[in-house]
Amino acid sequence: MWKAITIYFFVATNLALLYPLVTSQGPKHCKVIHHKQDDILAFFGVSDGMDITWSHAVNSPELLEQALSGDTMMLEADVLMRNNMVSGTPVMAHPPAVDSNVTLQTFLEKTTTSPKKGSKLDFKTIEVVEPSLKMIQNVTFGQQVKNPIWLNADILPGPCYDKVCVPVDHEKFLSLCTSYYPNATLSVGWTTGKNMTPAKNYYNWPQVLPMGKLVSQITQPITFPVRANLVRRSWDQLQWLLDLSATFTVTIWSAITDKLDLLDLVALRNSVSHKRIYYDLPPDQEKAFRDALKSSNDIGQDKKRFAWKALAKKDCKDVLVGQNSVMFSGEGGTVISEKTLYKVSRNEFSEFVGDVTFITTDGASNRRTVNIKLHVKDETGAAVRSDQVVTLVLHSSGDFQFSIIDGDNKEGSVKSENGVFKFRITEHSSDGKKRSFKCEITALDSKGDKSSVSLDTESEPMGGYAFISTGAQSHAILVQDVQMAVALPESASSSTVKCCFGMISLILLELFHSL
Ligand SMILES: *[C@@H]1O[C@H](CO)[C@@H](O)[C@H](O)[C@H]1NC(C)=O
Ligand SMILES: *[C@@H]1O[C@H](CO)[C@@H](O)[C@H](O)[C@H]1NC(C)=O
Repeated sequence: MWKAITIYFFVATNLALLYPLVTSQGPKHCKVIHHKQDDILAFFGVSDGMDITWSHAVNSPELLEQALSGDTMMLEADVLMRNNMVSGTPVMAHPPAVDSNVTLQTFLEKTTTSPKKGSKLDFKTIEVVEPSLKMIQNVTFGQQVKNPIWLNADILPGPCYDKVCVPVDHEKFLSLCTSYYPNATLSVGWTTGKNMTPAKNYYNWPQVLPMGKLVSQITQPITFPVRANLVRRSWDQLQWLLDLSATFTVTIWSAITDKLDLLDLVALRNSVSHKRIYYDLPPDQEKAFRDALKSSNDIGQDKKRFAWKALAKKDCKDVLVGQNSVMFSGEGGTVISEKTLYKVSRNEFSEFVGDVTFITTDGASNRRTVNIKLHVKDETGAAVRSDQVVTLVLHSSGDFQFSIIDGDNKEGSVKSENGVFKFRITEHSSDGKKRSFKCEITALDSKGDKSSVSLDTESEPMGGYAFISTGAQSHAILVQDVQMAVALPESASSSTVKCCFGMISLILLELFHSL
């Protein structure tokens, strides 16, 4: 195991040469992709994803009439080619049926002309997708269709261990949907098996990371259908997906036979804005969930954003920047903060914190490195001034080094069960020149082993940017919940500073993990 994370902290006392710390050959600037928000809440005039209601398997004329005249908002049904004929007619039918008396054409004509109905078309095979999209084009041609149309498919393999699961070809699905009907919301998920009870059933990183990469380049609205009873086990993965874009949503669904843990759903709802989770649950499960919500302290807020600009060594999918996270994989790359760092003046006290997760996506582990630097000048990672650099190198083993370029070098070590660490670097200056740095590493596991080292130096207060980079790797490294703050002179004590950090959300997350 030789995985490392490096944190450089730059402080300078006088003008000096720029110090080129990274020599990367032609990094690629990654554009910020603006993912569109689906407008389903506005369309139905509600403000909470929980207010959206669903009708299922609307695949007979009677069910269609019932759904159209009833209260439910979104009408869902599978689309198949009639009698499995390749060049046939798309119809609304649920396997094993291969035919129904509702064609996709009728379904669309009726739903798109109803003032308060939307549709969710579920595709089980790729063959039906293009004829269906052509039909959508045909039916909506020349009209301003505002009714939501969701295109749903399980496009990646997920926890499916007790039956045969064949995902819909993700490349074809995404390219067909984006070219034929860019207004649709893409509901893209993973295949799941029958019984989700065994612990190995969850959305794991090898399944979720490729999804993040796929959707990162798509501007169309995205929702991830997520099976309710996998929420707890897939917590980190779901939080990451939701963090990737403030417009991404999840649609919680459940099989009638699934056993829900309602607290998981309550915790998920409280972890992001209420606009970002739709609930497509069987009626009795939905009722139980609503009852469970009554006795919860409902926060439902997105976290405050920490913004980064990304540069990829080769492919922008290797540096996925979210609201409050950066996922490095593949050939790696760099991010640099959009805002400059604080300056720590006389009597001030600053804190820079974040979590680092060394993700292992397969059995093997290999050498990889991450660099995090503070107070750099620009995206090359050059120091504002070179003579005083404070560096933290953290290995996945829990060993770390903390040093000043022209000064001391201290080492520490924490034991980790899972390769997840919190780093905390504080800087304090009583006279504005002499500064003390302290670096504390905590293993975020059940034991919470902790170690800290301190360094002293002398310099003027200075700003600069925060910068993180990694090299090539076959796994992934997630840096998240990065926050920084500086305390006012009169409140320069660590206990006061803690209150300014949104620690509450972090603590809640940790509590949830230890439940
Ligand atoms: C279509 O409707 C006819 C007449 O009601 C019925 O006999 C037939 O079974 C229906 N077909 C399907 C596929 O439901
Ligand atoms: C829609 O389909 C009908 C019948 O298949 C065809 O006549 C018509 O030209 C199509 N319209 C568009 C806009 O594709």
